[in-house]
Amino acid sequence: MTAVITDEKIPNNVNLAGDRRLQRALEEWQPHFLSWWQDMGPVGFQAKDVYLRTAVSVEADGWAHFDYVKMPDYRWGIFLEPKQAGRVHGFGDNQGQPVWDEVPGEFRNMLRRLVVTQGDTEPASVEQQRHLGATAPSLYDLRNLFQVNVEEGRHLWAMVYLLHTYFGRDGREEAEELLKRRSGDSDKPRILGAFNEPTPHWLSFFMFTMFTDRDGKYQLAALAESGFDPLARTCRFMLTEEAHHMFVGETGVQRVVKRACELMKQAPNGDVRAQGGIDLPTIQKYLNLHFTLSLDLFGGEVSSNAADAFAAGLKGRYKEDRYDEHKLIGTHYTMDVLEDGKAVTKDIAMRNALNEVLRNEYIKDCQRGVDRWNKTIKDEGVDFELTLPSHKFHRQIGMWSTVCATPAGELIDRAEFEAKKHAWLPSAADETYIKSLMHAVTEPGKMASWVAPPAKGINGLPGEFQYVRLGA
Ligand SMILES: [Fe+2]
Ligand SMILES: [Fe+2]
Repeated sequence: MTAVITDEKIPNNVNLAGDRRLQRALEEWQPHFLSWWQDMGPVGFQAKDVYLRTAVSVEADGWAHFDYVKMPDYRWGIFLEPKQAGRVHGFGDNQGQPVWDEVPGEFRNMLRRLVVTQGDTEPASVEQQRHLGATAPSLYDLRNLFQVNVEEGRHLWAMVYLLHTYFGRDGREEAEELLKRRSGDSDKPRILGAFNEPTPHWLSFFMFTMFTDRDGKYQLAALAESGFDPLARTCRFMLTEEAHHMFVGETGVQRVVKRACELMKQAPNGDVRAQGGIDLPTIQKYLNLHFTLSLDLFGGEVSSNAADAFAAGLKGRYKEDRYDEHKLIGTHYTMDVLEDGKAVTKDIAMRNALNEVLRNEYIKDCQRGVDRWNKTIKDEGVDFELTLPSHKFHRQIGMWSTVCATPAGELIDRAEFEAKKHAWLPSAADETYIKSLMHAVTEPGKMASWVAPPAKGINGLPGEFQYVRLGA
């Protein structure tokens, strides 16, 4: 089952050749994917050799192969973790029953919605990031951008495989629609709000891969628990790739923070901007923006959809194994809710609170990253602390979207929020300044003024390695 056939048109470990109909359907979808990639994938660089990692199996010790490849020649494949014999539902109403290898009729729509919503985020982020190649701060970063982009393309393949294999004609139609929606398009937008926001420069790219790809980690982890076994197995392998995307984000921001500290110490008056850097208060504003956009992706705080997906055994909690109890009937979650315009603490039926439970796991994970950034600041001898804003601040989805709050979580009226928001969120002037810094640096080993070099290269290679061959 895990053997991978790499000389097929579509590399896979699902014995695609054994299912002619499916193979033909996916081979028909492939040119549509490639033309989407040409139209909406990275602008420029398509004919350049990029030092990329390609998934070639699901074996923990040798799943990735590194080599130069031109992006359109990337081997987008289908990889599922091996089936575990005797696996049973780990949670929900069917806990202890054998997992499903086919879609149960009564949950078909719910399951398709989960797969389509996840699938839609994958090409969306490629579209959001398509212009960034022109202003990469180094060849190392340029390569990382393209690595993230091709892997998001593979994640789209992963979801399309599920749609084609398990959802018949509707699945095939949904797979086509995934290539038709466009990030930020007013007529045919992507499904989720954060995936229609622009990623106009590299600070927002690093924040996006830190915070929004991390939302992806938590959504995939919850789906990796699924009692629909093919979805669980697909998501488990996607998580392996996702780790690198969050590494790009966390270390990217860390390098911007480090550079800000170095410049603060160099300048007689500590003026980071005067020396072409991004100052820490500005970094805080972008952190506030991208963290809160990502919080929205977890959905409403009290949600019957979340309860239904858990009851059905389709979407679990983050690492179900950590918990003793997996049915969640008669249990409660203590959380902040909005009542008559005030924040109050209440016990909510656990199944209805599962979006909030997952969001809180995510927040803890984000905090660990912010702690590491603060350690960098401290190690540089600078007195400043970055903080995650409250979950009540700057929300567009859920109960907190109806009120205004400070980053500390204090509810305020809209007039006060409007008067202060540019102290908390990037202003047009901040955005203009950040964009003014964005110029491509193409000499191997060299970095833009606003970012420190990485601690080490990719795959053990030196920093001055030519990660992208830009020569004709
Ligand atoms: Fe992804
Ligand atoms: Fe990702």
